[in-house]
Amino acid sequence: MADDDTNTRFATKAVHSGTQHIGDAVNTPIFQSSTYKLTDERYAGWAAGAQHTLLYARMSSVNSDAVAQKLTAMECGEDAETFASGMAAIATTMVALLSQGDHIVASADVYGGTYGLLTEELPRFGISTTMADMRDPASYEAAIQPNTKLLYIETLTNPVLKVCDIAAMVDVAKRNNLLIIIDNTFASPWGCQPLTMGVDLVIHSTTKYLGGHSDLIGGAVIGSKELIAQIFKRKAHFGGSPDPHACYLLERGMRTLDVRMPRICENAATIAQRLESHPAIERVYHTQLESHPDYEVAQRTIPKGSGMVGFVVKGGDAAALKFMRGLNIIYEATSLGGVESLIECPFNSSHGAVPEDVRVAAGVVPGFVRMSIGIEDVDDLWADIEQALSS
Ligand SMILES: Cc1ncc(COP(=O)(O)O)c(C=O)c1O
Repeated sequence: MADDDTNTRFATKAVHSGTQHIGDAVNTPIFQSSTYKLTDERYAGWAAGAQHTLLYARMSSVNSDAVAQKLTAMECGEDAETFASGMAAIATTMVALLSQGDHIVASADVYGGTYGLLTEELPRFGISTTMADMRDPASYEAAIQPNTKLLYIETLTNPVLKVCDIAAMVDVAKRNNLLIIIDNTFASPWGCQPLTMGVDLVIHSTTKYLGGHSDLIGGAVIGSKELIAQIFKRKAHFGGSPDPHACYLLERGMRTLDVRMPRICENAATIAQRLESHPAIERVYHTQLESHPDYEVAQRTIPKGSGMVGFVVKGGDAAALKFMRGLNIIYEATSLGGVESLIECPFNSSHGAVPEDVRVAAGVVPGFVRMSIGIEDVDDLWADIEQALSS
């Protein structure tokens, strides 16, 4: 896939790779069809496995293929599969690659839905997980058992933004002959391209930065042709496939990733710096701040920055809620990665189901606030934050 554009740079791939100029259209039109004419050629494709063959939209559609090709190019992979959500991508990938009796090493900091999958769902099928420390590759290595099949990591954790030393984790995986999978949602392929560092599979919730406009739910996995073919087979069986219209929206969002991300990261770094010197704020987490515990690793893995900022408001959760509800521009909602800035208190949203002592041990202390910074004017964002803090 995408053989025609291997020599172009990231921004050009984001705009052009995979886009289908059907009927001389500039954009891939929405092909809202559940099924396609069964020609001899397509039938031959079906017999060969049906991946990327236009037969039936649970397997592949014009719009999902366009997105898969663009993602393959942007993540420097060989192939990709698209899903109806990030969780569908993660769950299908796990089930495709693991069998009863297999073992995973992951971290308790992973996204909550992934944590639930690892601790509540996969054990029902005889697949176990040991939680290690995402910051410490040696802890992952120490957790490996004879039946371990894969290491699971995230580029940045949620919400305290721990940074994973991807190169060191890849080293652990390769020395122990294990697969290594990363959820690269928080960085996006603009911020980090883990396949170029030796990771086997990259997963995205395309709901976030790739879609970029808070108007779709989607997921994807990118990697070698061989692994993606295995995952496609399970996608066909489990059926977590994306609708053509969602793929159309996703492709449109992906085309502007390269211009959205620099503004998002610049805004986030500015807001983080200003928060750090505000008297109502106890602590700030952002990968571009030298005070970040993983600053050095962040400069190697996501050197262009990130759009997420975590901070602790003095006065605990009540003060944080009062601050949040005093905002006029920044919108209180869970999720991230859109053009608009969003804010949440993890204690009553993303981490609401996590017991308080576990939350606090992970760094989500009372007063913790998480912001996904958008592309608004940074001075307007700051003025909104300042007026809400002073109230
Ligand atoms: C890092 C990360 N991975 C996966 C997911 C799940 O994605 P989705 O909501 O698209 O299923 C999320 C959702 O917030 C996430 O933040």
